[in-house]
Amino acid sequence: MPTDVSSILNEVFHNLIEDKKHLLQTYLDLLFKWHKTSNIVSSSDKEYVIKREVYDSYKLTKFMRGQSYTDIGSGGGLPGIILAIFNPEKEVVLLDRKSSFIDFLELAKAELMLDNVNVVKQDFLVKDTQLMTDTVIFKNFSNKLISKMTYEEKFIYLMESTKKSKSVSKAYMLTGSPVIELSDSCISEYNIKVEKLVSPFFSSDRFIAEVNF
Ligand SMILES: C[S@@+](CC[C@H](N)C(=O)[O-])C[C@H]1O[C@@H](n2cnc3c(N)ncnc32)[C@H](O)[C@@H]1O
Repeated sequence: MPTDVSSILNEVFHNLIEDKKHLLQTYLDLLFKWHKTSNIVSSSDKEYVIKREVYDSYKLTKFMRGQSYTDIGSGGGLPGIILAIFNPEKEVVLLDRKSSFIDFLELAKAELMLDNVNVVKQDFLVKDTQLMTDTVIFKNFSNKLISKMTYEEKFIYLMESTKKSKSVSKAYMLTGSPVIELSDSCISEYNIKVEKLVSPFFSSDRFIAEVNF
């Protein structure tokens, strides 16, 4: 089993052109270095992070149809940085409320020379937050306020919070199987389409929910 980033990238993204692979390598080296002291990604297992988090983020970016994006609760930059690397013509806002993540995202933007990225320190859930992009993305968005809610309550709460931003017309959520159990009323209220994201590396699939406002 390869454990270095370069070998894992070669296995997972074997068809990528060299400059994109190089950007991914630079980003991941930075991410794992910061993770040791600041805990900014879901696991220290490089193979797991690349095959689950990075690969799924990449598949999500291939699916999305927006012109400008806000990655809400971007954390270590997944999926926003992956989106920005593969779509240099699209504006990508990486939004988080925590300084530790914001510092990392600023550094990653500079090191990767991602001119299409804006890093914004903001609490998405405070009243009067106005996002300026046409599309938003949620991946593993969580905090104390919503952690006790049921999946459907959380989904509705996030979509109602998103809807307050007048420029937003679409939202994408990279999520688990509970999305296929949303009630019919929720699905029709938010015009939700769900697509399975099949992983060649894991038996548990994830799902992409597309919401049209
Ligand atoms: C579990 S992490 C997910 C990070 C990344 N999207 C990923 O999948 O690796 C959740 C992130 O949401 C951020 N967050 C939580 N509540 C927030 C809020 N109200 N406004 C902005 N960011 C928030 C946290 O700081 C954290 O970075």
